[in-house]
Amino acid sequence: MDAIEITGGRPLRGEVTVSGSKNATLPQIAAALLAPGRSVFRGVPDLADIRTLGRLLAHMGARVERDGDTLSIDAADVGTPEAPYELVKTMRASVLVLGPLVARFGRARVSLPGGCAIGARPIDQHLKALEALGARIELSHGYVEAKADRLRGARILFDLPTVTGTENLMMAAALAEGRTLLENCAREPEIVALADALNSMGAQVQGAGGSAITIDGVTALRPMDLAVIPDRIEAGTLLAAALITGGDVLVRGARAEDLEAPLAKMREAGAEISVEGAGLHIVAPQRLEAVDFITAPFPGFPTDLQAQLMACLSVARGASRVVETVFENRFMHVQELSRMGADIAIDGHTAVVRGVDHLSAAPVMATDLRASASLVLAGLRAEGTTTVHRVYHLDRGYQALETKLAALGASIRRVKGTL
Ligand code: UD1
Repeated sequence: MDAIEITGGRPLRGEVTVSGSKNATLPQIAAALLAPGRSVFRGVPDLADIRTLGRLLAHMGARVERDGDTLSIDAADVGTPEAPYELVKTMRASVLVLGPLVARFGRARVSLPGGCAIGARPIDQHLKALEALGARIELSHGYVEAKADRLRGARILFDLPTVTGTENLMMAAALAEGRTLLENCAREPEIVALADALNSMGAQVQGAGGSAITIDGVTALRPMDLAVIPDRIEAGTLLAAALITGGDVLVRGARAEDLEAPLAKMREAGAEISVEGAGLHIVAPQRLEAVDFITAPFPGFPTDLQAQLMACLSVARGASRVVETVFENRFMHVQELSRMGADIAIDGHTAVVRGVDHLSAAPVMATDLRASASLVLAGLRAEGTTTVHRVYHLDRGYQALETKLAALGASIRRVKGTL
């Protein structure tokens, strides 16, 4: 397993470009299953999660080819609508194949998902909603088995906004008979990107980005050819890297409309952030001010940036309160940040971060994707050389993060095959 070594203390300066969005690409790749023929995706990030989903589709009989950052998926010959445990276990988003498979093939067998260990993360909302569309669902031996002749449109009220649940149902309803009304939907930009993708395939999806989405089912869809949107979480992470080091960085591809809540908090902490061309320019102060924030579904503060902003606040002036409402057990970075000298106390879903003057280097262990990013950020600030172990978590969601940070002046390198 690789590690990353960082010698902290250098303010980041310069320009960096955000890669394509992981969480937008994954459902769009799954949507390729809805149409016989070759779909093409441009600007696809080279990430472990994307490769895993590609392998999963290949296992089903799709032809998956990659040429640079262009990925093509020909789903004409998909014959095995099955997602086995070996492929699903590392990535929860594999559940995204469930909706498209039932919709196109009338059956699917999908292992219950794995992924980051950040709470129970059930898929009851996906299953309940597919049943409402007429799918017969059974759970046996750790697999979801779904069958349907043709799905029928229905009105579905989600108990809570779920991102992949909303996406799964949009894809299933696209080929259902009649109209589906999804209510209490997730409103993330990736949902809008999926609606755009489906509509480019001939689907009739309206309202994505709002809490009610209407889908008028069609009998067939055609393949798509599209460009992936920039990754707002990577953009936010790069802004946070500038923030924690007192840097001055232009993040190309960062879109203000996707990042309103985190930008508001970064400004409150003392950063100046302006829109510049197709990006965001951040100038961070020497010392940040404490800020309180609460994670919430979009347009609230994204849980996927909670750990990164917390790392920044660990060296702010004063005490910050961070409340995590989306996932239980998403404070696993706290213990590792504490090993670097951060002063953070957890009480249930709340963390109180008392800013310290200095972080100090330590060997730390990445536990999940976004926690890993927060440890890298802390390492950029800490005195001495920090080693972040188990960076395979980081590689699931960030393309060449260490290369991008090094180009901004960080002293950072990957060490092959350590712990
Ligand atoms: C997606 C993102 C992930 C992000 C998360 C929340 C992808 C591939 N992943 O994950 O990076 O952290 O949104 O922004 O897009 N829930 C249920 N029942 C369900 C489904 C969800 O109770 O059937 C709960 C979850 O346990 C969680 C909350 O709903 O507490 C939100 O989860 P959800 O939006 O579904 O997250 P994902 O789609 O898995």
